[in-house]
Formats: sequence, structure tokens, C-alpha cells
Amino acid sequence: MNKIPVWIDTDTGVDDAVALVTASTLKEINIEGVSAVAGNTSLENAFRNARDVLSLVGRKDVKVYAGADKPLFIDLFTAEYVHGSNGLGGAQIPLSDAPKEEKKAWDALYEKAKELNGELIVIPVGPLTNIAIAIAKHPDIINYIRELNIMGGALIGGNVTPCAEFNIYTDPQAAETVFRSGIKINMFGLDVTHKAYLDDADIDEIRSYDNPVSKLFVDSNHLLYDYREKLHWKGVCEHDCCPLIYTVHPDWFEGQKCGIYVETQGTITFGKTVSDLWTDFKFEDRHCTAFLNVDREKFVGRIKEAYRSF
Ligand code: BDR
Ligand code: CA
Repeated sequence: MNKIPVWIDTDTGVDDAVALVTASTLKEINIEGVSAVAGNTSLENAFRNARDVLSLVGRKDVKVYAGADKPLFIDLFTAEYVHGSNGLGGAQIPLSDAPKEEKKAWDALYEKAKELNGELIVIPVGPLTNIAIAIAKHPDIINYIRELNIMGGALIGGNVTPCAEFNIYTDPQAAETVFRSGIKINMFGLDVTHKAYLDDADIDEIRSYDNPVSKLFVDSNHLLYDYREKLHWKGVCEHDCCPLIYTVHPDWFEGQKCGIYVETQGTITFGKTVSDLWTDFKFEDRHCTAFLNVDREKFVGRIKEAYRSF
């Protein structure tokens, strides 16, 4: 089987860790590299967590590169209220002893994309700072990325403000650079990720696997249980697994082609992903697909299968 080459760019918080764990078990993909970016937590935490999670799942072979420690033009806004002070909700796992990569994330990504000659699928699940820097520094990278499967944005609503989702709100200028780059974009915003949740029975089942990786899941998710109650979610949303699982099971997701503009001004609308989907007004640039639905049973099944395998 020809494996799909993927690159994961992560601000390694709690649901990013679930995506890394799940990715490590997907036979359909080759993880060509992982890059860390500040977002949910500091760059230092995100870099360490990505390395440690990959080591925990036996994938020390995957190289992890550090990228931006802050958004392009604004101060960093982290989400300790969900991801705790270490990014993993306080869960402790052994430190990876893999050699530390010194190359910057945007250079490593560019080199890999060029080497794979247009086949690489990039999966950003944090603020888009690293990807924007890669585009600014190596403009021809746009010819070497097959598509960007992004967790970020929302056509309706937000989770930081009434209009903005965390990854876009944290660095809207970077997001606008990426959405304007011409690279094909599949956007997994809150419209779909709020439907991609693990309910209490799913969480109990993962707990019952009783292995070191399911223990990380349980120990890292406790702040999310409280957050879930506060926001009246039906469960714990696995935002960052959406673009990952889509990459191997596109038929489990439903999306609509549209144009998306990222608002970089304003106060209330700052960081909003504005879509032309439900209006007659159409943007000229319409190379995005916004995903709105997921087959939750199948999606959850694939995550549980990953945790059961350790
Ligand atoms: C996104 O922000 C982070 O909290 C999650 O890791 C996800 O990438 C959801 O808004
Ligand atoms: Ca994330």
C-alpha cells in the first residue's frame, strides 16, 4: 500500500496529544515530520510534549522541529484553562531521549515538502504561525504541498469570542497569509469538531484499556471534563483528530466548497473565519472546503482502536 505522507504542525495540548497518538497507529500514513508552535501552551511545552508523546507510543523515529514561540504580530494567548500549565493538563509522562532537532520548523517543512515533490499533506492543528513563516520565507512551498487539512476557525460561532476559534484567534495574520496562499485548504472548524466528541461511555472504555497511553488520556483530560460541563458539550471534543482522520477516511466527513476570509481587524470580529457559503456574495478566491459533519461513530471507533492497541 502506498502510504500518505503527512506532516503534523501542533501546539501540543491535550487534544493534539490524542491526534499524535492516533496518527502513530494509522497504517495508511507516513508521519514525515512534526513541528511545534506556541498556542495552547508555550513553544517549550509544545515541543517537549510532542517529543514525549511520540516517545511514549514508540515513535522516537519521528523528527520533531521547534517553530515560532509567539504569533507573528501580537502577544501569545495560551489556553491553560483547558490544557493546564504543562499543556497536557498536568499529566506526567517520561521525557523523550530522542536527539533534539536543531533545524527550524519552517525550513524542515519546506525541505520535506520539496523532497516529496508535491505529495505532502500538511495537518496544522495549532495557530498557523509556522506555516505562514514557511510561506513567507520559501514562497515556492505552495507548489509542494498537496493540501492543508487545518483544524481552525468556525463558520458559525467561536470558542474564544462569539466569533473566533482559538487557533485562528491566536494568530489571525498568520491564518490570513495561509488562507490567501493558494494552497488547497480543507478547514475543520468548530462546525464539525463540536460533533466529533467522545462521550462518557467512550471515555470509560478508553480508561478500561488500562495501558500507559490510555492513562495519559485520562490524566490529561480532566480539565476538559469541567470545560465540557461549562459549555454544555455532549462530550470531550477531539478537534485535532478531525483533519488527521479525514486524511485517511475522507468519506466520513461532509464539507462544502467556499471562500474564506480571515478578519484581522476589529474587536469582536477579530479572528473570525468569514465564509461566503450561505450568501449570494462570493469571494473571488474559493479554494477552500469547510467541513460541517462527521460520522461520529466511525470517527470515535478509530480513536478507540488507537488507544486499545497499546
Ligand atoms: C483548538 O484549540 C486548541 O485548544 C485545540 O488543541 C484545538 O486545536 C480548538 O479550538
Ligand atoms: Ca491544537
